[in-house]
Amino acid sequence: MHGTIRQVILAASRNRAVERVVAGAPLSRSVVRRFVAGELVDDAVRATRELTTNGLTVSLDHLGEDTLDIGQADATVKAYLTLLQRLGEAGLAGGGRAEVSVKLTAVGQAIDEKLALDSARRICEAARNAGTTVTLDMEDSSTTDSTLEILRELRLDFPDTGGVLQSYLHRTESDCRELAHAGSRIRLCKGAYKEPESVAYQSDQEVDRAYVRCLKVLMAGEGYPMVASHDPRLVAIAGHLAKDRAPGTYEYQMLYGIRPAEQRRLAAAGETVRVYVPYGEQWYGYLMRRLAERPANLTFFLRALASTS
Ligand code: FDA
Repeated sequence: MHGTIRQVILAASRNRAVERVVAGAPLSRSVVRRFVAGELVDDAVRATRELTTNGLTVSLDHLGEDTLDIGQADATVKAYLTLLQRLGEAGLAGGGRAEVSVKLTAVGQAIDEKLALDSARRICEAARNAGTTVTLDMEDSSTTDSTLEILRELRLDFPDTGGVLQSYLHRTESDCRELAHAGSRIRLCKGAYKEPESVAYQSDQEVDRAYVRCLKVLMAGEGYPMVASHDPRLVAIAGHLAKDRAPGTYEYQMLYGIRPAEQRRLAAAGETVRVYVPYGEQWYGYLMRRLAERPANLTFFLRALASTS
């Protein structure tokens, strides 16, 4: 049942007609605000300051994806440049305290791969100037090869650029082996898109088991694993696998607004914890993926929708 609801919501997350209805509805701010820091760069900087004051590190995502418009792709790059400048000026970026996460489809990947590479390069340069790094988010499986190729190219000039691998894909264990080398920052997550059986595990158990196999490869390797999950069992397994690693050679990552007490608990125990903070006007696709992950969130969302209409 949960699986069916998830498939329906994920299908809706790519549907422009549903987007118009949901994004146009007078949603109470609290629904979006639970998962999104706000619409403006000021909101992003404020959330970063709050989180870093509490001993957490941050990766900021300027919301948006799937653009076919060159002007829009350029506007997204400029939004990142402004953000990185503001973080630098506020003293929040140094030493990677706050970095940025970038979706290549927001900066031109569906228009032309070269445009996406050039866009990502501009963001990496600005990040370097601010004293921090970039991680390339991973999107649906039609983009995996292209995203890993762009990551490889970027790393020639910006070796600290991070990548993301999704344990639900059959290919990922092998990708982990290739990317577990020294200096390689790799975020491991379960995966948030609707994928066919031909490329991805479909059951929660299979995805979780694959996550553990991938984590073992990354933790045994020379790279810098970034354990992105809220799943208490996986967080515990990661802690166990990391016990022989030196502090500061891996980190935990969780999303803004999800299990904040657990984020603070891990940080208080001396772990590096990075909170993924989305901000911006285009929150629709992101919000729908969060709703698909948990029916309880959907109830929360529908109640708020009903109470505002
Ligand atoms: P799972 O969904 O099984 O949840 C385990 C438990 O965590 C739940 O029982 C609940 O307690 C809590 N929880 C999880 N999700 C919740 C929610 N939405 N609301 C409230 N509680 C929740 N995906 C991708 O395809 N590409 C990417 O680049 C990224 N990037 C990324 C960065 C970071 C920092 C994180 C944490 C996640 C991603 N993801 C992602 C998303 C990821 O693939 C996955 O969809 C979510 O993290 C949910 O999976 P969990 O591992 O948390 O487990």
